[in-house]
Amino acid sequence: MVQNEAHIIPANIAPDPVSGNTQKDTNTMQDNDTYSFDTIVDRHNTHSSKWDKYKQQDIIPLWVADTDFKVAPVIQRAIEDRMDHGVFGYTSTDDQCNQVVADYYQKKYACHVDANWVVWVPGIVASLSLAIRSLSTQHQQVLTPDIVYPYFHTTPAAAGKQANHLTMTYAQNRVRIDIDALEKRNAQGARVMLFCNPQNPGGAMYTRDELRRIDDYCEANNLVLVSDEIHADIILDKDKKHVPYLDVSAHALNNSIVLGAASKAFNVAGLACSWAVIANDDLRQAFKDEMHGIISEINPFGYTATLAALSQGDDWLAAMNRYLCGNRDYLLEELNAIKGLQMLPLESTFLAWVDVSELKLEDPCAFFEAAGVGLSPGSNFNDTNFLRLNFGCARSVLEEAVKRIKAALI
Ligand SMILES: Cc1ncc(COP(=O)(O)O)c(C=O)c1O
Repeated sequence: MVQNEAHIIPANIAPDPVSGNTQKDTNTMQDNDTYSFDTIVDRHNTHSSKWDKYKQQDIIPLWVADTDFKVAPVIQRAIEDRMDHGVFGYTSTDDQCNQVVADYYQKKYACHVDANWVVWVPGIVASLSLAIRSLSTQHQQVLTPDIVYPYFHTTPAAAGKQANHLTMTYAQNRVRIDIDALEKRNAQGARVMLFCNPQNPGGAMYTRDELRRIDDYCEANNLVLVSDEIHADIILDKDKKHVPYLDVSAHALNNSIVLGAASKAFNVAGLACSWAVIANDDLRQAFKDEMHGIISEINPFGYTATLAALSQGDDWLAAMNRYLCGNRDYLLEELNAIKGLQMLPLESTFLAWVDVSELKLEDPCAFFEAAGVGLSPGSNFNDTNFLRLNFGCARSVLEEAVKRIKAALI
């Protein structure tokens, strides 16, 4: 990697040119066993969307949802082995690849998935579109959470449909669909309901009871639920458990499209690989038909990384979740001690959702950029009171960001 822009990383968090470690590494390496999430990897000159946004500017990028962590050694080795082969032609999956996904659901959630229910797609956003296009042929409306990852609002419109926003609640500081309001709502005109669990932004994980009520609503209204579970492996508290939608009931299994990927938890989003689990033969066929001539094959590195992550990545993932839990707790304490900021206590994701409304800023994002910290505007997710902060980075980077936020506000 080219190192000539290292000066943009503040001097006190820059890596040692020989070891690649920061001062902090040597202090905390023990805590993170063999994986040092404290190590700063210089991502300049790698076409990183996250880092290139503020090229040549002294702004710490804490916006788009990828982490700055180097991948698990098992993924690195698997990719190196594949690369050594030297031939990278068209690549397709076989039953064994699908079985790795099925085994993952069994091992992780004690939940049965048939290998032939798995459909590989280069990205989750593509699957949201495919689901809408394949299922809403006779229907104009698509139900979608109101405060959510932006593509939930734009993919229906791109498919010529209308995004019908579902009311959210912030009760108990968990951002989620207001199920009481949902149950009173007429879903007429919709066949598809988009759903995000864990919820981005906000990081709430829906409970099994909440999922059951949503499934009942879908059954009563003849809806297919498309469950985006891309953040499912990022769990910040040991006692919390993700419930895949397909595990909720026989109806949910037969009337859903469940989307998953290794991309967020294992930081391989750039390798463009995800899967859809579609148990219902008709829904799966319609989805596949919609892919024809539009969706390309997954690249060989995408498969390699995903299969290595699912089958051998548990140990690394547990260590990363512990590290992220530490980052979350650190941020909660620091940000909530600053007058005018209120960070919600998230259960999943590395994306803090911070209420800045008390500050009464005209352009909150620009304010913090001027302070040297690049965040995502809440308006992207349909709530202008908030900013989203990506804490999937070395603690020392976060500490520097907090220092800058304090300097701007205190
Ligand atoms: C909830 C959610 N879905 C989908 C995506 C993007 O998925 P992909 O890159 O596989 O299209 C993101 C990325 O941040 C996300 O947070």
